[in-house]
Amino acid sequence: MSTAITVFVPMDTAAVAVGANDVALALQAEADTRGQRIKLVRNGSRGLLWLEPLVEIDTPQGRMAYGPVDPDDIPGLFDAGWLQGHDHPLAHGLTEDIPYLKNQERLTFARVGITDPLSLDDYRAMGGYDGLQKALGMAPEAIVAEVTDSGLRGRGGAAFPTGIKWKTVLETAAPQKYIVCNADEGDSGTFSDRMLMEGDPYALIEGMTIAGLAVQATHGYIYVRSEYPIAIAVLEAAIQRARQAGWLGTDIQGSGRGFDLEVRCGAGAYICGEETSLLESLEGKRGLVRAKPPLPAIAGLFGQPTVVNNVISLATVPVILARGAGYYRDFGMGRSRGTLPFQLAGNIRHGGLVEKAFGITLRELLHEYGAGSASGRPLRAVQVGGPLGAYLPESLWDAPLDYESYAAVSAMVGHGGIVAFDDAVDMAEMAEYAMEFCAIESCGKCTPCRIGSTRGVEVIHRIRNNEQRSEQLMLLRDLCDTMLAGSLCALGGMTPYPVLSALDHFPEDFGLPASAASTTQPA
Ligand SMILES: Cc1cc2nc3c(=O)[nH]c(=O)nc-3n(C[C@H](O)[C@H](O)[C@H](O)COP(=O)(O)O)c2cc1C
Ligand code: SF4
Repeated sequence: MSTAITVFVPMDTAAVAVGANDVALALQAEADTRGQRIKLVRNGSRGLLWLEPLVEIDTPQGRMAYGPVDPDDIPGLFDAGWLQGHDHPLAHGLTEDIPYLKNQERLTFARVGITDPLSLDDYRAMGGYDGLQKALGMAPEAIVAEVTDSGLRGRGGAAFPTGIKWKTVLETAAPQKYIVCNADEGDSGTFSDRMLMEGDPYALIEGMTIAGLAVQATHGYIYVRSEYPIAIAVLEAAIQRARQAGWLGTDIQGSGRGFDLEVRCGAGAYICGEETSLLESLEGKRGLVRAKPPLPAIAGLFGQPTVVNNVISLATVPVILARGAGYYRDFGMGRSRGTLPFQLAGNIRHGGLVEKAFGITLRELLHEYGAGSASGRPLRAVQVGGPLGAYLPESLWDAPLDYESYAAVSAMVGHGGIVAFDDAVDMAEMAEYAMEFCAIESCGKCTPCRIGSTRGVEVIHRIRNNEQRSEQLMLLRDLCDTMLAGSLCALGGMTPYPVLSALDHFPEDFGLPASAASTTQPA
């Protein structure tokens, strides 16, 4: 009997949403009918979302890509000899040679889309658990120093240095400490956390375990939004397997050191991504922001010292430990070290995940990777960093994407979400939408956000209807000042960024002359 040919069909949510499960079924059925033995592997996504479902065939030359595959294409693909890597209108050659993928710098996403997400053998074969094995032989202070030296900053939005946060937790004595992974991923147009959890769950588990060793925490929680059922199922299965294999539990690989973790499911409020609301939610309460201080690093979950980190921050720790702080720090620019998985979404032809070192520009991402708008019309505005990020006009698309350069133009890199709009967009409508989003998602704890956002919607509405436009514009700037300075957390405090960037960069959409663009920007 012939040897089975390995065929990869992603089980990632983005692939499943466009029919990957049907493709997998049709593929297996066709192979059975033809008496062709195949080994079907459900991998994560390569992040080339316009090609999903992207099927890969393992050939002697390497993995060949075909996509987007519809179940109806399958008989024709077999006829063309795809199992031998032969040509077909849906063929893209070797996956690794597709320019979108080839030109990336995948450190955090090194294994995503390549391995079977639940196979510990696959994980180990590609460097998995090398970092933890190193950490098991290190003192907690040395692990913290390695992460600090790497320059890693929080990938959830605020970009706080990860090593410094860990140092605070390590130095705070307590009977119990916790590692909490923020997998709420509420930002518009973002999906890197989900892709990582679905495609390489052990990277997150390993990163959290290293964090536990570093700060002497023995228990962890992954707080995942309920809209991510596949990620939740993959994580649950991976945790069980890691535990069975001795990578979690009271005696990790016979070291005498212990760490274990659980998955918790959030109910879907944007504010539950804010770390203190998340902790309230984890404790079984309503997601309401806590005043700081105390920092969660001092008094977090159940009042104990707690590391709260984003999925990508934690999943990047293993490569830092395995290859050294210097290796990671060599990527990037200025104070933004390493790589960021950018996520291209909105009106873009080639949406997907692009992991690159800090310093790439928006123009490169939009055109060299994204291939321009999906509609074919000129791109006009791009929102970077989620719903609290600024809208950037073309004049700012050449600024290097790093935390400081973006802050200098009143924008933020945040979690790396990039949402593109073509020239049909009405930026005054987008400004109103930003205020409305804040009004809907406000936790209600402080007045500038709770009341201010609702009044803000009304004021923008009046501006759009040309009711006392100049007075209302003054009022809007005043209101934004109050929200910026007086809000308890960044939901109210940063909503002025999208609102004022729309007004300042696209005044003509608010009924103002284009030349009247104000130079006032959010501080
Ligand atoms: C309104 C709001 C929503 C947030 N949502 C998320 C989120 O979905 N995921 C996340 O990792 N961080 C989110 N953050 C940032 C967290 O508060 C926190 O800074 C982060 O989890 C810390 O991890 P990091 O240092 O690894 O980035 C949000 C912050 C605010 C103010
Ligand atoms: S800014 Fe908004 S979300 Fe944040 S604490 Fe105040 S009311 Fe709650």
